[in-house]
Amino acid sequence: MSVNWDELTARAVEAMSHAYVPYSSFPVGAAALVDDGRIVVGCNVENASYGLGLCAECSLVSALAMSGGGKLVAFSCVDGNGDTLMPCGRCRQLLFEHSAPGMQLLTVSGVKSIDEVIPDAFGPSTLAAFAVTDPADSTGCEACQ
Ligand code: THU
Repeated sequence: MSVNWDELTARAVEAMSHAYVPYSSFPVGAAALVDDGRIVVGCNVENASYGLGLCAECSLVSALAMSGGGKLVAFSCVDGNGDTLMPCGRCRQLLFEHSAPGMQLLTVSGVKSIDEVIPDAFGPSTLAAFAVTDPADSTGCEACQ
């Protein structure tokens, strides 16, 4: 699929203008193309309890769910200058959960796939594989009983 990176990044820049960043003064905007063609966006929203701040990707994933779900096929993220920003580790995990196979990300070192930015990711299939290791065990985990 050919991705209009300029359009996606422009949407990320617009989203960045809504960031609530009184503590870091580091606004972030993110935009992603969904597999049905719509675009979802997000910005970071900080909190006086610093650790509770939400990254732009959290906001984007919430927007994805609220607007009908689907899988992300392309993603662009920018800082306050409109320059491409690499998603933090936690947000790569968030994006992975909702990614279409081969999802593309515009990164500081070019376009990369989700598997390149979070290799061998922990995800739903990890949980599913564990759940079937002992069918007789309803929880699958001795520590949980
Ligand atoms: N931030 C994001 O929104 N996404 C990232 O991938 C990296 C960091 C935000 C969190 C915080 O509000 C600010 O950038 C400074 O860390």
